[in-house]
Amino acid sequence: MSNKTYSIGIVGARGHTGAELIRLVAGHPDLELAFVSSRELAGQRVADHGDAYRGDLRFESLDPAAVAAKGADVVVMALPNGKCAPFVEAIDASGPRTLVVDLSADYRFDPAWYYGLPEMTRGNYQGQKRISNPGCYATAMQLAIWPMLEYLAGPPQCFGVSGYSGAGTTPSDKNNVELLRDNLMPYALVDHMHEREVSAHLGVPVEFMPHVAPHFRGITMTVNLWLREPVKADWVQARYEQRYAGEPLVRVVGQAPWVSRIAGRHGVDIGGFTVAPGGKRLVVVATIDNLLKGAATQAMQNVNIALGLPELASIPAFKESVHG
Ligand SMILES: NC(=O)c1ccc[n+]([C@@H]2O[C@H](COP(=O)([O-])OP(=O)(O)OC[C@H]3O[C@@H](n4cnc5c(N)ncnc54)[C@H](OP(=O)(O)O)[C@@H]3O)[C@@H](O)[C@H]2O)c1
Repeated sequence: MSNKTYSIGIVGARGHTGAELIRLVAGHPDLELAFVSSRELAGQRVADHGDAYRGDLRFESLDPAAVAAKGADVVVMALPNGKCAPFVEAIDASGPRTLVVDLSADYRFDPAWYYGLPEMTRGNYQGQKRISNPGCYATAMQLAIWPMLEYLAGPPQCFGVSGYSGAGTTPSDKNNVELLRDNLMPYALVDHMHEREVSAHLGVPVEFMPHVAPHFRGITMTVNLWLREPVKADWVQARYEQRYAGEPLVRVVGQAPWVSRIAGRHGVDIGGFTVAPGGKRLVVVATIDNLLKGAATQAMQNVNIALGLPELASIPAFKESVHG
């Protein structure tokens, strides 16, 4: 018998983010993996698909009613966009006790759901049992723009480059390694979901141009900010350092950060503060591992906050880790 306090299930556990969630839950002192769902891996041992989890659990193919019937304390939804509603409805119908954290975009615009970007929104958490996890690009954009929000003279322009794990496991051009070889693939150049998400949550319009690159994981987000008043780069860096001083998962660095150094790490690097002559144009660069702080790590922060556990329980140290 386990003496862990809370049971947690993952719906869509075969995917990239599901695999990272399994790893985080396996190392959590208070969470016990109750079920993991996948249609494709049904019947296979979870322990055979990763080195973190060592129990006997097997993947199961679970429909919404079967997920709700598990009665887990926490359910994390790691399904593609547009697939969550039947699961949420079944859980709703089973009673109010289950905490649901959704990684998809399905509830990020729903005011009944708490939008969990802890560094910015944890002060608004009021015990909601429905939490929408921000998008990966959207997390990088918001953390890069937020400290300068009151100085903006117009919409920030955000040039984002993601590794192809951001496109999930369903085959498409955006995760086709043959098409990506020696290539950079622009897509959804206006009105991307994350453009709308960031505009809605920051309360200012944002212009976002995403690209996919041949590396597997990690995002570079280069943000161009037009400002109402001239600034100096040192002042800007100090402002970011002050804003994120108490945040273990946000590191402010002098040089523009590299995506190769954030892959596999659990936080965000923000740096490269560069001011154009005249002082009113600022460029800031953020890097994030899309599968970790862009998805699974952030979900774990949200679960911990909602359960009243230490926010970083099971999340490896970030700020103290040395860049490789
Ligand atoms: N990848 C990222 O960097 C990232 C970052 C932030 C947020 N997200 C979001 O997180 C969610 C999961 O992303 P991912 O990259 O982990 O996706 P993924 O690798 O494509 O995995 C999707 C999972 O959903 C299951 N699934 C697919 N269609 C389903 C359906 N119709 N009914 C039930 N299960 C279904 C798949 O397993 P079976 O087919 O075996 O059932 C698989 O386990 C997405 O909403 C994505 O937008 C992803």
